[in-house]
Amino acid sequence: MHMKSVLAASTAVMLAGPVMAEPTAEVLHWWTSGSEAQSIAVLQEQFKAEGGTWTDMPVAGGGGDAAMTALRARVLAGNAPTAVQLKGPAIQEWYEETGLADIGTVAEENNWAEVLPDRIAEHMKCEGQWCAAPVNVHRVNWIWGNKQILDEHGIEMPTTWEEFNAAAEKLQAAGVTPLAHGGQNWQDATIFETVVLGLGGPEFYQKALVDLDPEALTSDTMKQVFDQMRTIRGYVDDNFSGRDWNLATAMVMNGEAAFQIMGDWAKGEFLAAGQEPGVDFVCAPTPGEGFLYNVDSFAFFELDGEEKQQGQQLLAKLIMGPEFQKTFNLNKGSIPARNDVALDDFDDCAKQSAEAMAQGSEDGSLLPSYAHGMALRGAPAGAITDVVTAHFNSDMSSEDAVQQLADAVANAM
Ligand code: BGC
Repeated sequence: MHMKSVLAASTAVMLAGPVMAEPTAEVLHWWTSGSEAQSIAVLQEQFKAEGGTWTDMPVAGGGGDAAMTALRARVLAGNAPTAVQLKGPAIQEWYEETGLADIGTVAEENNWAEVLPDRIAEHMKCEGQWCAAPVNVHRVNWIWGNKQILDEHGIEMPTTWEEFNAAAEKLQAAGVTPLAHGGQNWQDATIFETVVLGLGGPEFYQKALVDLDPEALTSDTMKQVFDQMRTIRGYVDDNFSGRDWNLATAMVMNGEAAFQIMGDWAKGEFLAAGQEPGVDFVCAPTPGEGFLYNVDSFAFFELDGEEKQQGQQLLAKLIMGPEFQKTFNLNKGSIPARNDVALDDFDDCAKQSAEAMAQGSEDGSLLPSYAHGMALRGAPAGAITDVVTAHFNSDMSSEDAVQQLADAVANAM
């Protein structure tokens, strides 16, 4: 440095009082679709407005599988990012493996315990300490419909899987693709869990996909679930394989398909395209009772460097800020994780989601999504998804599928 700039710099420091590190953050996430990018941009802007320097590390791939692979590579290389989109039991798995930064001070200063439902707060703790910050609650068990197609064919949103099948057959006979689907493992798993919940009910879902009870896994109900998956396989178009979820949503938007079964991040895409619920598209819970929740959150690795640590604390604080949670979730399609954010500016699907969540926590039908990493650790969840996908993409019988399911789960425990 030149003498002059050294002088200028030291004068600036003297004027500013004690040296404060400038917060920095490298943020690894998988929010790359239109609405997802808009949502994370809100956080990035707020971070910058507070004097932070943000390095974006987006890893494309819905559901986050690719992001989790990228994360593992980074950590193994000794180069963990400052912050990572991480959720469900994976938070505790990483905590056990590498440790995670304690964000308890931020949490306590900002009363997180009072403004978060207990169910969500539990996911954010590692051995009793706050180790992750939640952004939202996505409901997974939604079915989206193209309003014009449904009206033209005199179809109501289905309330049973039989009604769904009848609607799909009617549409198919009229030359309309009933279901927009992307053949990627996590999307198959997303449909599968909604069918497990819908056909089996909340208690069955809990036994099968949370408690991994072998009897439930091999039961007649589970066979019926695979039968229904086979039926659904008949309702997708020929090009479904490998399609990204947001492209499937676009098919519903553009009238190329009638329905999509997907969490309410799909609503983020409809809204980003200027479509209105009840006018252009319709939302309804997938047939059956219950609420499958999927809470996005961020965790922070234990890193050296004051700037990074400050960045982590600042991010944690911003993520849980009430204004941020409102703006973020209006873009994202989800509802705030905080229970004190007014939903007046949210659409009817979001209001319906909040009501169903409240009801679900009273009657026990609020359940963690296995397909979105909320119910199980990585190994058993992956084992289930492998069977679901293998079944969906072959002519495997339902009898074989339930047996494989039980075996795969047993091996993964
Ligand atoms: C995440 C959502 C995301 C979706 C598609 C889900 O697992 O929770 O935030 O939009 O995957 O990438």
